[in-house]
Formats: sequence, structure tokens, C-alpha cells
Amino acid sequence: MNQLTFHNGDKLDAIGLGTWKSEPGEVYEAVREAIRIGYRHIDCAWIYQNEAEIGTAFADSFAAGEVTREELWVTSKLWNSFHAPEDVAPALQETLTNLQLDYLDLYLIHWPIAHKPGVTFSETADGFLPIDEMPIEATWKAMEACVDQGLVKHIGVSNFNIPKLKKLMASARIQPEMNQVESHPLLAQNELLSFCLSNGIQYTAYSPLGSRDRAAGMKGADEPDMFENEVIKSVADKHGVHPAQILIKWAEARGTSVIPKSVNPKRLKQNLEAANIPLSDEDMDAMNGVDKGYRFLNGIFWERPGGFYTADSLWND
Ligand code: A2P
Repeated sequence: MNQLTFHNGDKLDAIGLGTWKSEPGEVYEAVREAIRIGYRHIDCAWIYQNEAEIGTAFADSFAAGEVTREELWVTSKLWNSFHAPEDVAPALQETLTNLQLDYLDLYLIHWPIAHKPGVTFSETADGFLPIDEMPIEATWKAMEACVDQGLVKHIGVSNFNIPKLKKLMASARIQPEMNQVESHPLLAQNELLSFCLSNGIQYTAYSPLGSRDRAAGMKGADEPDMFENEVIKSVADKHGVHPAQILIKWAEARGTSVIPKSVNPKRLKQNLEAANIPLSDEDMDAMNGVDKGYRFLNGIFWERPGGFYTADSLWND
């Protein structure tokens, strides 16, 4: 499997396990099984509300001698309600306590969106703060301090576009080393990917399979099904594999990390084994032709009447 190399030489397995939507009650077994079959990269977040159960899985995997802490790469993310500089280290500490770890490998600012402290979600605009009242640069300084304290090895962001990355990079003492964004053949984000890679920022593709298990309220009316896409299906048929595996291999082959979520042992294995599919240049060219700039997570869910955030400002400003 391809590995991504960080500035200090640390290496990250390109294919990791996503845990968004993995319910308490099922995520423990999924993480244990993933580690048993060879996953060494687990992607978490405070907001997924399952970090305590994942922490128990880590502790039991270590105790069983299946993996060591040093062999495992654990990512988590700072939720929107903890952007105030004084809230960053305590939020990271809560995640570490839940995950039963002393340090994270990577901590990301989850969204370039600030909630008022104490507000996890808000149906109305008054639960949010305009980003100039809670600037990312101030949050970032607190992220840097977490590196200085040894709480995390690498820091980065999620859902950032090029202008937002440039603004952050201009004031950062420690440059962001990761941008985690939605990515799959329908949303290749070639310009963003090449900006990231040419600026020493690694790129992780989330929702690589289209996050078909999202709540109905987060789904559009006529969403495409990438498993039924003619090009993706034909490449999958040619290699005798499931379309999901082709989607994962495409992401790995273009030099990104990719974090498919599964809680099913058979699919966990399929997804890891995707690394072995011998995709040809012709296959890649065919899949690169599928791009439509289509977002499954379009950001409209951040819009509120009279609010500060719009999908347009999120992806374009
Ligand atoms: P499950 O967890 O039951 O395996 P994404 O990573 O884009 O968020 O997509 C996750 C969704 O894709 C989940 O519904 C997950 O179901 C499903 N999924 C994961 N791996 C596969 C696979 N190899 N084949 C089919 N569906 C998959």
C-alpha cells in the first residue's frame, strides 16, 4: 500500500478506516477487526460521539498484543464549538481521554466554521460566530501549542479550500500538514490536490464511497450512486472487484490518503485489499473523466436564515 510521508519522516498508510456514522455498539468490533486484519490508520472525530468506544478497542488491541501504539496512526478533529484558543487543548485532552491515548498522530480543525462555545449544533444563526470574530489563525496558534506540549505530532485542517489554506499558511508557525476533504471520482478536486501537494500538505479523501449511510436529512433528492456509475462499474468488472474497491484504489493511486468507513468484516477486508488492484493508466484516465465537481456533503447544512455561513462562502471564499 502507498504511504504518505510527513515533514519529519513519519509515514501514514494511505488507506485508513473512517469512523463517521459507525455507531457505538458496532464501532468497537469494527476497529478491533480492522486492526487484526492490518489497518494501521484510524480516522476519528470528537463529533462522531464514538471515541470512547474506539478507545476501548485500542486499549484491548494493545493488551492483546495485536498492535503497538507506535504502529498505529490515530487522527481526530477539533469540533466547531472549541475554536476559542483556551478551549483547544482541553478539547484535545477530552479526545485523548476517550481514545485512551497519550498523544494523537494528527489533529485537524474539522470545519472553517465557529460555533459559540458550548453549542454543539445550532438550528439558528445565533449559535454560530462569524469567522472574523473567532479567527482560524487564533485557533491555529492553540493547535501549535498542542504540538509544543507533545499532545499531537502533526496538525492540519479539514474542509479548507485554497484561499483559506493560503490565509492560514501566511500566519502559521507550524504549517498545516493535512487537508481532509470530500473526494472521489465525481469530486476529484484536482486544483486543490495539486495546491496541497506542492505546498507540503497531504490530502485525505473523505466520503470516498459517497457516504450512502448518511441520515436522510443530509441527502439530496437525486444523488448519484457511484457504485452504479458506468465507468466505475466497467473498471470494477474488468478487475473482478466491487466498485467500492475501485473507488478506494483510485484515491490511493493518485497519491492521497482515503478513509472508507465500514463496520462489516467482509467489507473492511475488501477495502484494505483494494490496494492490490493493478489499475492501469487507461483505467485511471477513464475514472479521471468522471469528475463533475459533485459534492455529496454540499455544505448547505451550515446555512441558517440570517447566518454567516453559506455553502458558497465555504467552498469559494
Ligand atoms: P458498511 O459500514 O455497512 O460496510 P463512506 O466511506 O463514503 O462514508 O461510505 C460508507 C458507506 O459505504 C457505508 O454505508 C458502508 O457500509 C458502505 N461500504 C463500505 N465499504 C463497502 C464496500 N466494500 N462495498 C459496499 N459498501 C461499502
